[in-house]
Amino acid sequence: RRVLFRSAFAQNKPVDEQGHLWWQHAVFYELYPRSFADSNNDGIGDLNGITSKLDYLKQLGIDAIWITPCFPSPQIDFGYDVSDYLNIDPMYGTLQDFDTLVQEAKKHGIRIVLDFVVNHTSDQHKWFLDSRSSKTSAHRDWYIWRNGKGPGQPPNNWQSIFGTPAWKYDPATEQYYYHYFYPEQPDLNWRNPQVQEAMFDVTRFWYKRGVAGLRLDAVDSLYEDPDLTDNPLGAGTDKFGRPNRIEKFNRNLPEVHTALQDLRKIADQYDAVLIGETWTPDVEALKKYYGKHSNELQLPMDLMFTTLKLSAPVYRQHIAALDAAGGWPTYVITNHDIVRSYSRYADGLHDEQIAKVLAGLYLTLRGTPIMYYGEEIGMQNNDPKGKEDVRDPIGILGWPLEKGRDGERTPMQWSSGANAGFTTGTPWLPVPDSAKTYNVETESKDANSILSFYMQVLRLRKEEPALREGSYIALNESDANVLSYLRQYRDDSVLVVLNLSAEKQQVSFDLTHQGFAAPKTKTLLESAAAAVDAAAVTVTLDPYGVFIAKVTK
Ligand code: GLC
Ligand code: CA
Repeated sequence: RRVLFRSAFAQNKPVDEQGHLWWQHAVFYELYPRSFADSNNDGIGDLNGITSKLDYLKQLGIDAIWITPCFPSPQIDFGYDVSDYLNIDPMYGTLQDFDTLVQEAKKHGIRIVLDFVVNHTSDQHKWFLDSRSSKTSAHRDWYIWRNGKGPGQPPNNWQSIFGTPAWKYDPATEQYYYHYFYPEQPDLNWRNPQVQEAMFDVTRFWYKRGVAGLRLDAVDSLYEDPDLTDNPLGAGTDKFGRPNRIEKFNRNLPEVHTALQDLRKIADQYDAVLIGETWTPDVEALKKYYGKHSNELQLPMDLMFTTLKLSAPVYRQHIAALDAAGGWPTYVITNHDIVRSYSRYADGLHDEQIAKVLAGLYLTLRGTPIMYYGEEIGMQNNDPKGKEDVRDPIGILGWPLEKGRDGERTPMQWSSGANAGFTTGTPWLPVPDSAKTYNVETESKDANSILSFYMQVLRLRKEEPALREGSYIALNESDANVLSYLRQYRDDSVLVVLNLSAEKQQVSFDLTHQGFAAPKTKTLLESAAAAVDAAAVTVTLDPYGVFIAKVTK
């Protein structure tokens, strides 16, 4: 039966004449299972909850969902501390519920992508329990154990990104183990071939179960310098008040790429896609994750995109660089670790229109967009008011400079009712007052809502080949306020005009160089914008207006 799931989804078949594969046409949707839909009303979302919302996702225009970790876990890092890679945490359901989700999703034309936490396990994983039990245990070398430099002194100066030293002393065997994240998340020793094989087997297990791909967590921290060289000090302090260190010896080691190539070889046997959590300082660094021979990640996420200022020149420059990098771009505007885009960009005057212009941007670029649940309804961060309300340990440790990530992980807002219709129990994180306005039920009835706008843009992506296949051609490149581009595929051209300023703008286009001596436009979608003159291609836009039109000769 499982084999059937796979062959029915033969993914390596190109879906167009350009040889694009399914994941290049797909719109992905990240969802945080704790917060999406609660089927048994215990206040925590679950797999059956997700299955019950497939109609919604289909209507929205989603082709694949990436579920953040739903495996057995002590939930120290809300699932990113996995204690069994081959099962489902009872709070989310059972393996059978998972199979049902895959099957039902398939009926909706939706593929399932799981989150693979490659760098570390939970300290409750049986591998680690055995590893820590004695210096000679079978799994001792599956993790990174070292002697301290002296009494009370860790092996070197490496820091955990989550606010503590990166080494934890274990009195049982009088050695330290390495953890780049929480102490409850010991790093696996990827230099050990047994670890590699065990992890590769995990991927096979899920591919065989019908999973269409994996999102690889924290890939850049897979390897550490075997000599444990101290990291150099950088300038200033971090948000936990520690002196900054340049992570030269415990991040981005070249061996990461070998591991990705191996994971890719297996993925290819199952026609699966690999998405990467690829934090990079620049496009050059991101480019490396595709692999020299396109043999690593198909979809390394452009997380730099989440850090950009809402400004036409800033986006223009970044998009051009990524578009020219040679790989297939993967655009992301937020995720479960990043403040929601609405809260990042709202100016207090044009908040909804800003949410729309952002959708008009990342959903019309050349590449694959990965949405985050709730962005389509304008969900806002709901940060904890005081330290006592924080659930995310980094928020408890780093308060108030670091508030943690609860704010962007609150329950999906389904209705204007109690708890936004997420649960009849007590939701694990509180629902903000804004849920009364920003929810699926209310916005579905309003043609001008953020949700309606998202649905229209996503529909256009499906209907217009140029928006999926087309090249990206920047227009009016010296305009400081309006970002404009043409997506062109064969005889098909779509013009996208986005006012990224708080002022009214009027723009005209000369498309002679793009092959249009006397162009005509046909509006496909406008929001706070209008064509003044279709023949001369002149458009007026209110603050943050969006104008999308087909251009013909
Ligand atoms: C990634 C995840 C984050 C998690 C961390 C440790 O950055 O996105 O949520 O805390 O890895 O697994
Ligand atoms: Ca539940």
